[in-house]
Amino acid sequence: MTLAKPIEWLGDRVRILDQTRLPQEEVYLELDNYRDLASAIRELKVRGAPAIGVAGAYAVALGALQIEARTKGEFLESLRGVVDAIGATRPTARNLFWALEHMRRVAQAIEDVAQTKAALVDEAMKIHAEEETATRKLSQFGAELIKDGFTILTHCNAGPLATAGYGTALGIIIRAKEQGKRVKVLATETRPLLQGARLTTWELKKAGIPVMLITDSMAGYFMRRGEVGCVIVGADRIAANGDTANKIGTYTLAVLARENNIPFYVAAPTTTIDPALSSGEEIPIEQRNAEEVTHIHGSAIAPEGIAAANPAFDITPHRYISAIITEKGVIRGNYGEGIKGIFRRV
Ligand code: MRU
Repeated sequence: MTLAKPIEWLGDRVRILDQTRLPQEEVYLELDNYRDLASAIRELKVRGAPAIGVAGAYAVALGALQIEARTKGEFLESLRGVVDAIGATRPTARNLFWALEHMRRVAQAIEDVAQTKAALVDEAMKIHAEEETATRKLSQFGAELIKDGFTILTHCNAGPLATAGYGTALGIIIRAKEQGKRVKVLATETRPLLQGARLTTWELKKAGIPVMLITDSMAGYFMRRGEVGCVIVGADRIAANGDTANKIGTYTLAVLARENNIPFYVAAPTTTIDPALSSGEEIPIEQRNAEEVTHIHGSAIAPEGIAAANPAFDITPHRYISAIITEKGVIRGNYGEGIKGIFRRV
């Protein structure tokens, strides 16, 4: 199948598919300024942890190309401002900070400014290519866990759009279908910003995979009726003990899955794992504007002035996770040891 291209490097600018306009319109934006790309990340025009990492790397490359510096010291000083601005867009996705750290290291390694700029562009393209390969590999590992005839419940959107690659949760489902397995998907709408209703259904429809849209609160109904073979979700950040931050509502699904004896899988490239954080308690949770809850597409659904909470992610403790599927293999049981083992190999 032809995958959506949410991000593309065009030599001196970046083309992104504006995900806020989907599924009604397929609108591409060409951005040649890192501030515009940073705003696009903040506004979820580009979203999903791996795609945020790739976009962040390209934003640094754009920023670097625009710096006019006489010395390497001046260049690095300006670049610090660029990296800080991009890092301030979305705090939870580990991939963003992983990518920024890589870009920073490349910037420091070379003396010549022009060569540094070229190296930063190359590094961003490399990060993009590696993300693509990693999501293909993890999808292959994950597809082995999918049985013929399974209905898979997924939350938010963890497809090609979210990864600038093959997808994580949806990549596994797409791969299982390519292997000839009959699969169906229950997609939660994912309030407040409806990534499931708008994006997951759009991608699965294009891939020819049967999908049924449900509201977030219907998940328990279908699980209890025995209609869910497994749950697969993506991740925004995974701590060293396996605790996982993902879209708000993931924790609820994990607890419900345990209650109903349904395997609950997390799929993510190793760039989403943050080995420096000992548990999910340390993962920063993005708090977004309350208006995303009180309004849908600009229309108010609550009385004016009502208080509303909007944490964008929650933490699923590792004990609810049946396996973490990465491009380096599937981790089960003792996540602390499994993650350490993977990082020894990385
Ligand atoms: O707020 P979003 O849309 O960026 O949140 C996305 C998610 O929570 C995804 O599940 C996660 O980033 C994994 S994407 C492969």
